Amino acid sequence: MNKKNIVFVLFLIIGLSIVAAQSLPVYLDDSKPMDERIKDALSRMTLEEKSAIVRAQSKFSTPGCPRLGIPELWLSDGPHGVRMEIEWDSWKHAMWTNDSCVAFPALTCLAATFNPSLSYEYGKALGAEARFRKKDVILGPGVNIYRTPLNGRNFEYMGEDPYLASVMAVPYIQGVQTNGVAACLKHFALNNQEKWRGHINVEVSDRALHEIYLPAFKAGVQEGKVWTVMGAYNRFRGQFTTHHELLSKILKEDWGFDGVFMSDWGSTHDTREAALFGLDMEMGTRTDGLHYSEKNAYANYYLAQPYLDMILSGELSESSLDEKVRRILKLNFRTNMDRNRPYGSFVTDEHYDVARRVAEEGVVLLKNSQSFFPVPKGKYKKILIVGDNADRSLTVAGGSSELKVKKEVSPLQGLIAKYGAENITFTRGYTTGKSRFHPNVPDTNKSDSLRQQAVALAKQADVVLFIGGLNKNYGQDSESNDRRGYNLSFGQDRLIEELIKVNKNTGIIIISGNGIAMPWVNDVPAIMQSWYLGSEAGAALANIISGDVNPSGKLPFSIQKQLEDNPAHYFGKLAYPGDSVDVHYKEDLLIGYRWHDTKQIEPQFAFGHGLSYTNFQYGKITSDKKSYQKNETVKLSFLLTNTGKIDGAEVVQVYAGQAKPSLPRPVKELKSFKKVFLKAGESKKVEIEIPVKELAFYNDSKQVWVVESDQFTFYCASSSADIRNKIMLHVK
Ligand code: GLC
Repeated sequence: MNKKNIVFVLFLIIGLSIVAAQSLPVYLDDSKPMDERIKDALSRMTLEEKSAIVRAQSKFSTPGCPRLGIPELWLSDGPHGVRMEIEWDSWKHAMWTNDSCVAFPALTCLAATFNPSLSYEYGKALGAEARFRKKDVILGPGVNIYRTPLNGRNFEYMGEDPYLASVMAVPYIQGVQTNGVAACLKHFALNNQEKWRGHINVEVSDRALHEIYLPAFKAGVQEGKVWTVMGAYNRFRGQFTTHHELLSKILKEDWGFDGVFMSDWGSTHDTREAALFGLDMEMGTRTDGLHYSEKNAYANYYLAQPYLDMILSGELSESSLDEKVRRILKLNFRTNMDRNRPYGSFVTDEHYDVARRVAEEGVVLLKNSQSFFPVPKGKYKKILIVGDNADRSLTVAGGSSELKVKKEVSPLQGLIAKYGAENITFTRGYTTGKSRFHPNVPDTNKSDSLRQQAVALAKQADVVLFIGGLNKNYGQDSESNDRRGYNLSFGQDRLIEELIKVNKNTGIIIISGNGIAMPWVNDVPAIMQSWYLGSEAGAALANIISGDVNPSGKLPFSIQKQLEDNPAHYFGKLAYPGDSVDVHYKEDLLIGYRWHDTKQIEPQFAFGHGLSYTNFQYGKITSDKKSYQKNETVKLSFLLTNTGKIDGAEVVQVYAGQAKPSLPRPVKELKSFKKVFLKAGESKKVEIEIPVKELAFYNDSKQVWVVESDQFTFYCASSSADIRNKIMLHVK
């Protein structure tokens, strides 16, 4: 080509690209600032299109704006893995053949790891699976506080302490969102029981609201920068929390939440309130199993035609609708209209590896007398495994966090792989009722024979591993219903007593998402608290039981000796489950260990408790100063030594207590923790920093957080009940 032609072609290319650049609408140009894109898109949408975008078009999607090329938003459960595809307009599974995922451990297990960096890995892997499955929002994490051990959904949440839940939720959110997938902090707020969840009215003080129930949401918004938050089904002070000043004032105005606030599925109840109290996206209305597939159901959503009518009549402003649309467009631009977001990955070895490591770091060794655990490989020829949870799938059921997995290694499979089939005998020991929806009342003669069979086998065994606990049945650890009692079901307590009578060498492994009564606690040598560990359950559990991995989990909630020792149950029915209209959180701030410390009621096992196969020695704690200004940071340090022969990890916890507060405060509150990995014999200097402003309490009459000049005690602990040393410091 001669020179003239080249110059001509160059001009042509430049000319075309200028034209092209100008013709690309601003909202489609991801090189433009977000706010300009939003403004441009909003200006192009008709009223009908704006009205359509703020509510569902199907069970788990919203319509977007097809004319403008603004895609639908697709949402999926759940907090522990990407749920199987659900039908367009029913709760039924769509029976796809390409949606079997990795099940990560339940969030109670993640909390029990006390390992924020692991939580980031968890979120990143989960988000990659959601991205690969073309989901723009994954509906987790759940951060409702564990108030009662009967709450059917505690397995989906992160325990009883707001600081632990905050610190563990933030990296999970950040990990998910690196995939260009939105996390969804839920259920905002005060959804602490499943019984009567659809309407129960929670009465709780401002102080408990701000100091116990809101912090994890505030951290998720302000530090986690979460892109969506989901409302809760229940009322608070008489109004449904899905359209409430909790979200319009506290979440959006005070905390600066700039994402999308969506309803829970069927938690919207009023058009005017939804319009004016900040509900941005209405999901699942009338999908209560009775009304779904109703004709024009979606057009009749509270935020659909009724809202449009009220705007057209002038009763409500179009600007209230615009505010919702802006937030939804921002969610589009953050997710499916960001051309640079990654493509995700699905059911990879890396994801299984994360799932297994979270499981291994979350299992809690509660009791280990006579060094029952670890059960060394090769030592025993006749290992008896007893219990339905040894080979029951625990990734299915339980409600919306149900999963369809590619792989689920059961404890039995894991133990056979570890010890060899020739050394393992399994017997079920008990049955759990006809199906997961029928009441958990097994037929007695069958369970009698199973129990007798297990006891007979136990007489001959070298060692017995009982693997039981709760399961995902209705009335156990399951959504939309609470447990009926604090004891194990299906005759497990009797079975355990009879096993231990014939074979002292019996270890107990509880799989659950809640604390349980342990009437046999003094009769057994060892107890392990395991969780719903997901796809790699058996591999992780076998590694811990055999000693190939040293347990390092700590309890994210207190386990009471009896239900009445739990603060939500101490005050009678009105405190839990309520009178079917109201429930009163009479324990106020004193939840979990805060209750045990203040009322001097000893728990069976304390919040933050967890043993290791090695031991740790805490050196003297020192601080950089003796007194601090309110804008400073307390710097503590001490030497931690692994005095045993096995590498391990210790979660050191620092609790703070104020000497003479002007308002009542718990004796101490968790203000920092660190998981420290130490080789056998190794010592490390542990440095803890606590900003003085985090010693504040909420003054409800002034509606502000206050740090008072006073003496504070910092407790350095291996659990909330195992204080290793302490130091008194002053705040001026
Ligand atoms: C359920 C749950 C919520 C879930 C949603 C969609 O009722 O409360 O956690 O994400 O509906 O399944």
